[in-house]
Amino acid sequence: MNLTDYIESHRNEHLAELKQFLKIPSVSTKAENKADVERAAQWVANKLRGSFSHVEVIPTKMHPLVYAESLHDASKPTVLFYGHYDVQPPEPLELWTSPAFEPTERNGNLYCRGSVDDKGQVHIHLAAFEALHKTLGKLPINVKVLIEGEEEVGSESLYEFVKGNKPKLKADALVVSDTGMLGPGVPSVTYGLRGLNYYQMEISGPAQDLHSGVFGGAVPNPLTVLCELFAKMHDKNFHVTVPGFYDDVAALSKAERKALNSLPWKAKDFKKTVGAPELCGEKGFSIVEQVWCRPTFELNGLWGGYMGEGAKTVIPAKAWAKFSTRLVPDQDPDRIAKQVEKYIRNLLPNTVECTMFETLSKGKPWVAPFTHPYFKAAQRALEHGFGKKAVFIREGGSIPFVTDMHDTFKVPCILMGFGLPDENAHAPDEHISLENYFGGIKAVANFYQDLGTV
Ligand code: BES
Ligand code: MN
Ligand code: MN
Repeated sequence: MNLTDYIESHRNEHLAELKQFLKIPSVSTKAENKADVERAAQWVANKLRGSFSHVEVIPTKMHPLVYAESLHDASKPTVLFYGHYDVQPPEPLELWTSPAFEPTERNGNLYCRGSVDDKGQVHIHLAAFEALHKTLGKLPINVKVLIEGEEEVGSESLYEFVKGNKPKLKADALVVSDTGMLGPGVPSVTYGLRGLNYYQMEISGPAQDLHSGVFGGAVPNPLTVLCELFAKMHDKNFHVTVPGFYDDVAALSKAERKALNSLPWKAKDFKKTVGAPELCGEKGFSIVEQVWCRPTFELNGLWGGYMGEGAKTVIPAKAWAKFSTRLVPDQDPDRIAKQVEKYIRNLLPNTVECTMFETLSKGKPWVAPFTHPYFKAAQRALEHGFGKKAVFIREGGSIPFVTDMHDTFKVPCILMGFGLPDENAHAPDEHISLENYFGGIKAVANFYQDLGTV
């Protein structure tokens, strides 16, 4: 049987298998799911054993890494495929139409936590490896596979592993499917990602919670202090006010600006997905530039005081915040972390004390030229899978491993994403379009086959 017929005739098997994988609640951030995360790693390893002679589940301090290789033809190139089998927590559960870990088909989509980020996209490659192995008797090129279980919590074990295993991971290209398509029916190759620094802080005012009637009016309120602080982080043009924040931002070339702004993309669709009454963004830049090419400061959580039912008249002793900065070339995560911390500490009034300031994680931005012949191969493969010419895009999300590999090996990183912007990654009712899932298998299988002939 040829490759296309095999893929076409195994749609039901592939989908049924993906559902099995999705049912495992591999939430990396929760201790109660540790056994499930382990089970998901074993599931991936078992699946890989069908097409790879060497498969390992590598224990780490937190969640296992799955590594496989099939290095059988020295005359062919070697690619490293990277993905993650861990998922975000499903909460808030009451907002899911069908239960978060019961894969459910509705309107041509498959709903489940992990369906698009990233288990569904990982399975596209697992199915493609199977199809190639079954129809050719072996993989058409040399392949290394690295699937981690800590992507959603900072990939610490992965970096530990990379540090000690560089030769093991060396390849001619990195292949990743953990990004999106520009829109429905527009297959896309991503050549840029933003970096991410994540911070958390605690401030303390009164020595303990106070009765707001007895003390209110004369004492500092840490929550109000944080509100004032974060209200100062942007000016009226939505520029970030951290001194030096934009110093190293590389200007877009005229040609790139033009190319990005003429992509088949509609602000109307973006607004609809967002669902807010109005958009707001940095003045002087288009939406595409704002989310792909400009750095941001975002408050991600602010808490303290009373958050239970009914009223409690209290002035909280402490208040907390989580916030992050998305970074673009050529911003340096270390330098930005220092600037942000210094600015925030300086802005705090002397009525409160900063009792904790931590940069939880740092990650570099990535952008690379798409001139290597493998990018053309990706474009051809995507056209084969989707019947339409692929476009080259940048994205606003972050996959720090991509930067790491690119810096280490200076190899082309081919990001073929199959998610859509409105598929609710990290949110309730996460789903993947079945058309994109099946189109993805075709495209990816053809890509690997084609690399055997480039
Ligand atoms: N798959 C996403 C990254 C992504 C999303 C890239 C959308 C491009 C478009 C990944 O799983 C993710 O969520 N990354 C985190 C950062 C990570 C360090 C926790 C992110 O971007 O917030
Ligand atoms: Mn992901
Ligand atoms: Mn994610």
